[in-house]
Amino acid sequence: MKGFRNSTLFLLGAGLCGVGALSLQPEPASAETETGDRPEIIVPRAGGRAAFEKFGCITCHLGDGRGGQNEGGYGADLRITKLTEEELVQTIANGRAGKGMPPFKGLIDDETLGVLAKYIKVELRLK
Ligand code: HEC
Repeated sequence: MKGFRNSTLFLLGAGLCGVGALSLQPEPASAETETGDRPEIIVPRAGGRAAFEKFGCITCHLGDGRGGQNEGGYGADLRITKLTEEELVQTIANGRAGKGMPPFKGLIDDETLGVLAKYIKVELRLK
């Protein structure tokens, strides 16, 4: 009786191994294609909004750039500025001495100045 049981278990075990071996299929070469097809995600170094907040523009021009003392802000209304992008860069860099607009030259790098100018012209602009 004991011997019969042992041999059954042995056969069962051998059978399972056989099934396992049969079901081993070659792995599809999916690993490379999956990662290769992933879209490239480009993270901007500093967005216009982030810079506008980081350098404190919102203190005087408010969150949406409206500025103006009667609107609760202090600076100029950037939403309706007539300055070109280049003039915006110059104004932010040099400020307006005696008029309350501080110079940011040396604090904001050239690339970010451009990003800010574009942000004012495109995002803050009243549509
Ligand atoms: C301490 C307050 C203050 C801060 C901070 C400040 N500004 Fe100003 N800004 C002003 C004032 C006041 C004026 C209006 C000057 C004038 O009367 O010509 C102005 C004017 C401007 C103008 C000219 C707008 C126009 O149409 O003539 C731009 C552009 C500008 N600010 C952008 C910025 C940006 C960008 C930042 C942040 C990097 C910033 N400002 C931070 C107070 C500030």
